[in-house]
Amino acid sequence: MKVNRLSLIFLLAIVQLIQAQTLPYKDASLSPEKRTEDLLSRMTLEEKVTQLSGLGKGQGEFGNTNVSIFGTPENERLGIPKLVMGHGITGVRSGRDVTINSTYMMTPIGIAASWDTELYERAATAVAKEMVALNQDLNLGTTLNIIRHPLGGRNWESFSEDPYLTSRFGVAYVKAMQSNGIICGPKHFVANNQERHRFDINNVVDERTLREIYLPAFKAAVMEGGALNIMGAYNRLNGTFMCENKWMLTDILRKEWGFKGFVLSDFGNGVQSTVPSALSGMNVEMHGTKYYGDKMIAAVKNGELEESVIDQLLCEKLWVMFSMGVFDKKWEQPKSIVHSDEHQNIALDVARKAIVLLKNEDDILPLQKNKVKKLAVIGTNAKRVNDHPEYYYMQGGGSGRTYHFENAINNPVDEIKSIAKDTEVLYAQGCTVSSKARETSDKKKPKEQQKIKADKEQDKKLIHEAVELAKNVDTVVLIVGLHGGLETEGWDREHPYLPSAQVELIKQVSKVNPNTVVVLTGGSFIDVTDWIDNVKGILYHFYCGEKISQAMAEVLFGDINPGGKLPISFPKSIKQYPEGSILTHPIGYSKSDVSNIYSEGIFVGYRYFDKNQEELLFPFGYGLSYTTFDYSNLLVNKKDNTVEVSVTITNTGKVIGDEVVQLYVNDEKSSVPRPIRELKGFKRVLIAPGESVTVDFTLDEKAFAFWSSNEKQWIIEPGKFNIDVGSSSRDIKLSKFVTF
Ligand code: BGC
Repeated sequence: MKVNRLSLIFLLAIVQLIQAQTLPYKDASLSPEKRTEDLLSRMTLEEKVTQLSGLGKGQGEFGNTNVSIFGTPENERLGIPKLVMGHGITGVRSGRDVTINSTYMMTPIGIAASWDTELYERAATAVAKEMVALNQDLNLGTTLNIIRHPLGGRNWESFSEDPYLTSRFGVAYVKAMQSNGIICGPKHFVANNQERHRFDINNVVDERTLREIYLPAFKAAVMEGGALNIMGAYNRLNGTFMCENKWMLTDILRKEWGFKGFVLSDFGNGVQSTVPSALSGMNVEMHGTKYYGDKMIAAVKNGELEESVIDQLLCEKLWVMFSMGVFDKKWEQPKSIVHSDEHQNIALDVARKAIVLLKNEDDILPLQKNKVKKLAVIGTNAKRVNDHPEYYYMQGGGSGRTYHFENAINNPVDEIKSIAKDTEVLYAQGCTVSSKARETSDKKKPKEQQKIKADKEQDKKLIHEAVELAKNVDTVVLIVGLHGGLETEGWDREHPYLPSAQVELIKQVSKVNPNTVVVLTGGSFIDVTDWIDNVKGILYHFYCGEKISQAMAEVLFGDINPGGKLPISFPKSIKQYPEGSILTHPIGYSKSDVSNIYSEGIFVGYRYFDKNQEELLFPFGYGLSYTTFDYSNLLVNKKDNTVEVSVTITNTGKVIGDEVVQLYVNDEKSSVPRPIRELKGFKRVLIAPGESVTVDFTLDEKAFAFWSSNEKQWIIEPGKFNIDVGSSSRDIKLSKFVTF
């Protein structure tokens, strides 16, 4: 039979197609392990290595050219899909493509101030769905670093100074992301707690401190949350860069914790070598190729690296991609889900629950709608003014922020007007929006100097206008604070105060009107000592999402009762933070070529202040309410090594409200220094006036153990342990003890 050439080619193509479809790695019914093994066996060395580096710059997901693309490349020959990476920390931020907008849902520190992990699960689920709708596969987050220093630029992007609180939020987040189709990559592993010298600082941390403070949230994210990705940090730990730190990446992460996923380097400067990084268990170099790629191929060819090492690194990545359905395009969400009404409502819940009431002298809050006839709303955050870059307004700066929809963040002035319909609401800007230059050493530049001079002139005029307005109203609400230009990834804050013009504004306005309330927005500790006595009320909002302004207005007028609590300590002064290793540089920290010694050890945050019996302005866990709560009936029952605790909380006030019940543990006598108190449980409960609820906790052995440096393991020393239950770390209402 005569077969012409064309038919032969056609026939061959069909055979190839059928074969391709039946290739084992394309068969979704096979296990991820089998599929990985099969695909790997079909790849050349070059193809394997290409999968272990990021894409760099190129064409964005939705056709935009020349944007930074976050992800690893596709392989057309084998049909390996591109792995698209984005941030889902506050909303969605895909690569650096500003045209991809989403719901600005939350900030980590803000959601931590809600102390509500169920709410976080809902919020993170919504973000995960938006990520899927926006074609993302992997989330570069969230940040599980502990807030060690009050000026850290990324504090707003972290949860807390406490490992337990951070762990609970971390687990909730990873579960929400991965059960909705997004591979989750907690970061920056580990001891990444400042921005100065971020690419090469050497942090010296003893093992006990790592185990008790800096590692627990990552451990929980992996062991309880099942995180399938981890981002290796830029910094060095005890002399070794984190992206070539075998002790951390292999011995602890994989062997001890059973991590089965893959590690990404932090972007641009994470990976600092080829062979040591590969041997340490660093799978994928981001965000382009510096040390992997050709250098890796050369290392295999000249015998420095076994190809089996590359196979192992790739195996872990492919296994995650198969397990999470990336090859099979398993997850889909309609575009209409992005910024849907449902998601905006979740953002509203988040914003409401994240507000912390810090001061309420003479019960100035809530403002009475029928009593406040004339209200002045003043301040740089009361309305977004022109020099306030939209993306910095009411959020922190850097890669964690969201590219939200234009005007998604309403103005507090408008929200207040719509709530207090019978009140005359007047507005003044108050002062200029402080630039970074004004607040940092950039002020040396001539162009910046000119701007600073002009701003100062303008401030005089604006403060004068505000003072005149304040004289003629019943009450003043000053809405001030920080923004993403002042508090951001890339550099740390240089001082803990509000911008100087705002401090002047608060002082002058409160002098002429005694009924002044300050609403602060920010993502970390702000030293308020200089003016706190001049004002009657203070609300703190940790930039928590796009509905922040509505929530502020509702809390001011009592439509919502604030129930948030501080996830960080507020000492009276920054000087109360540890001297020495942390505060050497004018604003702290060591130089990059000098080791940054974590000499305070496990005594971070409230652990430090408690140990040194420092008086605080607002302790960790603190927050007021428009109602009052009574604690009674603490029961503690130890069965084997588990301790059951229950306590009754009664709302003794007049309005419905949330209380965050906190449980702290203390070892009465120990052979090593231990904290006076450590958070080991918390629950946020809503209680109607006159009603009571019973709150239960179960503590396992972990709650009582410490890391023994001698024995290299967690141990519980026999003796008495106090169980303290209260409404902040310094307001313990009831205590009982158990004996181990
Ligand atoms: C940051 C990471 C971020 C990455 C990509 C790095 O500079 O440290 O947190 O995920 O950039 O934007």
